Amino acid sequence: MSKQNDDFFKNIISHAKEYGFVFPSSEIYDGLSAVYDYGQLGVELKNNLKQYWWKSMVQLHENIVGIDSAIFMHPTIWKASGHVDGFNDPMIDNKDSKKRYRADQLIEDQISRYEADGKNEAAAQLQADMDEALNADDLPRLKAIIEEHNIVCPQSGTKNWTDVRQFNLMFSTKMGASAEDADTVYLRPETAQGIFVNFLNVQKSGRMKVPFGIAQIGKAFRNEVIARQFIMRMREFEQMELQFFVRPGTELEWYEKWKETRLKWHVSLNGGAEKYRFHDHVKLAHYANAAVDIEYDFPFGFKEVEGIHSRTDFDLAQHQKFSGKKLQYFDPEINQNYVPYVVETSVGLDRLFLTILCNAFEEQDLSTEDKKDSRSVLHFHPAIAPVKAAVLPLTKKDGLPDKAREILNSLRIDYSIQYDEKDSIGKRYRRQDAIGTPFCITVDYQTLEDDTVTIRHRDSMEQERLPIPQLEQMIAEKAGWKSLLNNQV
Ligand code: GAP
Repeated sequence: MSKQNDDFFKNIISHAKEYGFVFPSSEIYDGLSAVYDYGQLGVELKNNLKQYWWKSMVQLHENIVGIDSAIFMHPTIWKASGHVDGFNDPMIDNKDSKKRYRADQLIEDQISRYEADGKNEAAAQLQADMDEALNADDLPRLKAIIEEHNIVCPQSGTKNWTDVRQFNLMFSTKMGASAEDADTVYLRPETAQGIFVNFLNVQKSGRMKVPFGIAQIGKAFRNEVIARQFIMRMREFEQMELQFFVRPGTELEWYEKWKETRLKWHVSLNGGAEKYRFHDHVKLAHYANAAVDIEYDFPFGFKEVEGIHSRTDFDLAQHQKFSGKKLQYFDPEINQNYVPYVVETSVGLDRLFLTILCNAFEEQDLSTEDKKDSRSVLHFHPAIAPVKAAVLPLTKKDGLPDKAREILNSLRIDYSIQYDEKDSIGKRYRRQDAIGTPFCITVDYQTLEDDTVTIRHRDSMEQERLPIPQLEQMIAEKAGWKSLLNNQV
């Protein structure tokens, strides 16, 4: 990462903390690695992102419904899904620093260094060698690659490495009253399996006809070997997943459709198509016949924010085998029973949150010849902004606060609105810019005379005069869900 991007990213992290978006978990106990808490504004932004996803995936599709399955599930589910035996990362320890790394990430960092030095051929060759070793599950070869490329431990600077070993990423715990009869259960590492095991429940109770989808938002847990890049790689995170069940043989058509739909979704939320790209998987998981990542251009480079997989009938067929229950669909159009194929879209909510912060954050220099000035601003789309408007009486006297509170009360049932009467109006505008509030509503002496207010716009900083009865409509048009979702209907 360049120094400029590094500084930018550090500023985002400190801004997120300073203004109540994201805090390190358990901070007064020195934190818990790769676990974060969302603060008072972070939770509003996160809830808005969830709502936006739910509306566009569930509410706007007649053939998609949502569920909320439990985090704990029968342990055999994870055997059937392949997670018990295969949900591993290759890890390696440095004997001097005693630090543990993911072997593939050490190599990826080396690839980035080659690229930064303009050694593109070396980077491509190293990528190919690593892919081959990962495909073949060849752990000694991964170690050999690390040694051949003189990759050193970032902490100790030495090449004193252990062998590469597999490390299962699932957290386990015990369920049951006493230790003797307790069963090992897992904290789910993806929400998808809760959908697969409810396939028949939903299909039958909802009288769903293939093609149809089941969507879910929920927590997932992975004991990531290394934690880094803020909320990019966490041990407890949230996923928003869709499993779309289709007739066998039509899955690749649906896969293409969902690829395009999901990319458009990100771009319409966050702007800037150039910030996104597809990354096709060269190595396909054993259950997939096509897979792609939607990557976002983070300050530390293009990285996955969403995965789209054509998962064939792997999951349902496995659950059929392990549970002994038929998980089939009778298709009246072709008069046949079959196990449906599945196209999955899976976006990490926390990563999505990070793309939004990275795209929205700006430190603007507003200096003029006579005066130095600057502001930090978050240019959120108004529909997802944590606070839609702030009502600001120009002074604390002469009835202006009463009038401002009247406006606050008329808007707060439908929208998240702040009231602020402390400090100069300029300082209050800056505070709202820093949390991404699109509109400031200033109540002044003219308001008492003609029932109009000043609307100050966050991005342009322009001001206009508006009659109070028009406020609700203005906010609805510019910050209501229709402002984001209209093009999806
Ligand atoms: N059900 C498919 C699945 O879980 P995945 O590619 O492992 O696929 C999907 O995860 C998405 O979940 C990723 O694109 C990413 O946004 C998010 N994700 C995965 N691991 C994560 C982690 N440790 N921290 C934050 N987000 C994560």
